[in-house]
Amino acid sequence: MSSDLNNKPDGASDDSIQKVHAKLISEKSEPKEGFKTMPLFLLGFVSTMIFVTSIYVVHYRAGFSPMVYDERFDPAKAAAAAGSVELTPEQFIAAGKKSYLKDCAVCHQVTGLGTAGSFPPLAESEWVTGNEERLIRILLHGLNGPIEVKGKTYNGAMPAFGQVPGGGYNWKDEKIAQVLTYIRQEWGNAAPPVTKEKVAEILAKEKARPKPWTQAELDPFK
Ligand code: HEC
Repeated sequence: MSSDLNNKPDGASDDSIQKVHAKLISEKSEPKEGFKTMPLFLLGFVSTMIFVTSIYVVHYRAGFSPMVYDERFDPAKAAAAAGSVELTPEQFIAAGKKSYLKDCAVCHQVTGLGTAGSFPPLAESEWVTGNEERLIRILLHGLNGPIEVKGKTYNGAMPAFGQVPGGGYNWKDEKIAQVLTYIRQEWGNAAPPVTKEKVAEILAKEKARPKPWTQAELDPFK
């Protein structure tokens, strides 16, 4: 369109319009019919995600219990911790072994053989396989001064593990029963198990005792 005043075109000329359109048209791809196929890697990625998440669900569903928010929740362990389930003898010993490796093996060694001259052996020790009441007393309050084990004399300090004054460990009766049952039945030892009720009974008798035992004091319980 032209202006009446100066006779100059006031917009784009036909020429310039055609140029611009030619460029626009050349840059557009031809329209196609039908759908594009999904890229192969995306198909692989989605399938892997479905696979991995289903494994996760199977492992951590925890019976879809409404009480569960911890994905590692194990109903059997929780029941045992709550005391509503008694451990099987195997679990009882296994728990004792765990405690032994953590807190006794440092002195008495994994082998139960101790260290010549400083830490007495528990393997084939008459203190371990003998009277359980004497053994429980040692664990509860500890043991000091010279003692004889398998014909050799030791003179060290065995710490107190019971819930007693000055005892650093404060182990529950059951934990003591477990570790004692373990040492009585490991390394070829074959003495009967120790129950938590027996530990509780001895603890009740000796609760007021303020210090570790000596061999002379324990001899009456032989
Ligand atoms: C810090 C080192 C140390 C630790 C830890 C220790 N003991 Fe002892 N234990 C000794 C010493 C030392 C003696 C000997 C004490 C003495 O000479 O009067 C001894 C003695 C004993 C005895 C009696 C003697 C024998 O050889 O049969 C028993 C049983 C025993 N310990 C069991 C255990 C158990 C079970 C644990 C773990 C719950 C344990 N001890 C942890 C150092 C240790």
